[in-house]
Amino acid sequence: MRILGIETSCDETAAAVVEETGDVHRPWLIRSSVIASQTPIHREWGGVVPELASRQHIRDISGVVERALGEAGARWGDLGAVAVTQGPGLVGSLLVGVAFAKAAAAAAGIPLVGVHHLAGHIESLVLQNGELPLPAIVLVVSGGHTSLYLVDQPGHYRLLSRTRDDAAGEAYDKVAKLLGLGYPGGPVVDRLARRGDDRAVRLPTTRLTHPDRNHPEIPGDLDFSFSGLKTAVLRYVNSRTGAGATRSVLPEREVADICASFQRVVVTALIERAFAAVRRYQAVSLGVAGGVSANSRLREELTLHGDQRELPTFLPSLALSTDNAAMIAAAGLRRFRAGVHASLDLNADASLAL
Ligand code: KG4
Ligand code: ZN
Repeated sequence: MRILGIETSCDETAAAVVEETGDVHRPWLIRSSVIASQTPIHREWGGVVPELASRQHIRDISGVVERALGEAGARWGDLGAVAVTQGPGLVGSLLVGVAFAKAAAAAAGIPLVGVHHLAGHIESLVLQNGELPLPAIVLVVSGGHTSLYLVDQPGHYRLLSRTRDDAAGEAYDKVAKLLGLGYPGGPVVDRLARRGDDRAVRLPTTRLTHPDRNHPEIPGDLDFSFSGLKTAVLRYVNSRTGAGATRSVLPEREVADICASFQRVVVTALIERAFAAVRRYQAVSLGVAGGVSANSRLREELTLHGDQRELPTFLPSLALSTDNAAMIAAAGLRRFRAGVHASLDLNADASLAL
């Protein structure tokens, strides 16, 4: 069976066709994956402008879906279902994908499946690597989320911890902005960090020892926090340039040092807590997914620490790290096979829980 996936939760309009293989270890194959990125539109504003995003999704969605079908050599009649990101994300953006998917499913007479965006990121690991050895810990680290999940059965995701303030990707974007490096910040900070000294700037590491008062049922010491780090970078930059000045007065070398030092602290926090969760839940594998999993240092350290501990570690390809629809199609197939369908009154949910 082939499924069409649609993703419009943020600033990428994406569609993909994914096929079931019948192989239990490697259940899915990507037949096509098309992404229309809105980055150039939002860059001008220093971040995603929700209203511009929804309008651009409307312009792009039909063409993107047609290309995904064309590249897969599929017609509507060849599809067994349509999967769409229901949330979380920007509600106006989500609505475009959800409305399109409902119309398509109704017109083609095929089932509709609503997918949680983070389930998509988790399943990108399976799409890339085949089924993970379970129980697995999966760290989802993106522009909107930094969360640890325990996957004890395929398709079962138990939230263990999350960020109490900024997501890691958000911290990258904010630090890039205050350094005048543009949007999105992750890739450029990553690139500059490679040329810097990661011990040059002293930045605080986050230590969380008290349970999260908002979620007393989870211990909280596996939680993340990145807003203090971002503020520390801001203070450092202000102390070097004078508040209100732009970083253009900072030498390139120093900008690279700031990026490297910031990246060291972020990656260390992510790696430490992910491996702590592996130990606590006796997981037999560890995966990292989401936009920040494209980060070169995070990828290297995950593999290195995994090898040292003889723990299998998994990453998506770079193309599957950032938002795409192939992962939504894969998560949709998982749900479809578990008997989950959505009715045509499916609604976008900006803060959908997983
Ligand atoms: O998963 P994603 O494409 O969208 C969300 O669901 O949020 O993640 C986007 C985030 C952005 O914050 C971006 O700056 C970050 O991923 N990102 C990176 C890298 N590439 C993208 N962060 C660090 N290093 C990278 N190489
Ligand atoms: Zn995402």
